Amino acid sequence: MSAVAEAPAGQPAPGAASGLVGAAPPSPAGPIDDAELASLPRPPAIRLPRFAQVWWFGQRQWGFVFRNRERYGEVWGARGYVRGRAAVTCHPDHIRALFKASPEEAPTLAHESPLRPVLGPDSVLTAIGPRHMRQRKLLLPPFHGEAIARYERMIAEAAEREIARWPVGRAFALAPRMQAITLDVIMGGIFGIGGRPRPGTLEHALRVAIRQLLRGSTMPGAKLAELMNLGHDEPFGLTRIGLAVPDRLVYRIIARRRSDPELASRGDILSLIMRARTEDGATLSDRELRNEVMTLVLAGHETTANQLAWAWERLVRNPDPHERLVEAVRAEAEDADELVEATLTEAMRSRPVIPMTGRRVAVPWRLGGYGVPADTAIGISILLVHHREDLYPEPFAFRPERWLGRKPGTYEWLPFGGGTRRCLGAALAMAEQRIVLREIARQLDLVATTPRPEGPKHRNVTMIPARGGRVIVRARH
Ligand code: HEM
Repeated sequence: MSAVAEAPAGQPAPGAASGLVGAAPPSPAGPIDDAELASLPRPPAIRLPRFAQVWWFGQRQWGFVFRNRERYGEVWGARGYVRGRAAVTCHPDHIRALFKASPEEAPTLAHESPLRPVLGPDSVLTAIGPRHMRQRKLLLPPFHGEAIARYERMIAEAAEREIARWPVGRAFALAPRMQAITLDVIMGGIFGIGGRPRPGTLEHALRVAIRQLLRGSTMPGAKLAELMNLGHDEPFGLTRIGLAVPDRLVYRIIARRRSDPELASRGDILSLIMRARTEDGATLSDRELRNEVMTLVLAGHETTANQLAWAWERLVRNPDPHERLVEAVRAEAEDADELVEATLTEAMRSRPVIPMTGRRVAVPWRLGGYGVPADTAIGISILLVHHREDLYPEPFAFRPERWLGRKPGTYEWLPFGGGTRRCLGAALAMAEQRIVLREIARQLDLVATTPRPEGPKHRNVTMIPARGGRVIVRARH
């Protein structure tokens, strides 16, 4: 995939900064009245039939968005998975307006995403309106920064257990190994089990079933199944078959937990949401609990695992930052924490595992020099924002030093989205990445299997390394 190695011939915006992080020129955005809408042109539309756009976006989002950026500029009109004409933007001011809008004015597009039939229409990820606020309020405490500190030991143990098994001198893909770690961590948090679930337990069977489900989602036919399920509240076809076993296990775990005499004192996430009551005293049904559990398991481990695989895919092909990181971590240098943070920030900038998120505006909206009518879906291309020349000079270079002594901007660096829909698991994902990255850097000399970068593969809503981040362990320390 040569597009990864080469910068697209994008137009650097005027005033591109000379440092390693710059700024975008201002651009007006936000709600407008009908008169202003009438005075503004619509974004330039991609001249391809809808099915071609859906296919291209689904299979090769990387090439698709960079090509459109080059051809149409920072805003364009598209047709995609979602209903009606959509627009796509990559300007920080446009993103600020969308993230700061009220949930009524700009609800999330996750409500219409391919995940809806899998997670149900009412989970914290897919719900909109008061239902979303209620679910989010319920789930925020266990994912809060301070609560995450409780998981640090569990993360370190999961990482150590897994890293100890990696072969020396033989190529392997990092993504599935990282998934083993992140799945143990999220399942530990949800079900309150320390360490990997023991064979013979329901949790162990669920772990196996989830891994099979994810393997299945890379098979030919999975894309078709995904398209067939679009717009549905219930899964059917292959998706339904794939979910049958994990669902049965989750329901059995829920039933057992309901009758657990210790339920009132348990600190795990499942017990917490099982006990929670709304203002009118209602508790979550089994179905609702299943939807939240599946949301947390599915949103919470593959993303983090692939983001880590990307970090190493970048590091093993960039000897300077790799060496600097390894040296600092092994010497327990003063700046080791900062280097770990800068490396992760840069990896998430250059390879955001969720390359696009979006909102549907309920009123007419301005996007720079263009206007879109009410009920337009607006895609926020995280990938394109992260590769703006004006924000990140030499955007295709991997430069962790961009972030030394500097925090990323809320609307310029958005791997976790933003506003009231910002990723619920961001603190957990960062804690996992910090601990695992550091542990690998400390213990292993990793090298690439090929000098050529791994291209991106687009699966469901994620962008993952095409070969899973293949590496060879040269030596252990
Ligand atoms: C590196 C890892 C991760 C990345 C890159 C990531 C990215 C994202 C993004 C881009 C969104 C959409 C935000 C928006 O539209 O503004 C999101 C939402 C969400 N993520 Fe994550 N995520 C990660 C890890 C996790 C983890 C570990 C969990 C849970 C345990 C999680 C749970 C969720 C949930 C529940 C939502 C929906 C939040 C809402 O709509 O209120 N994610 N994530």
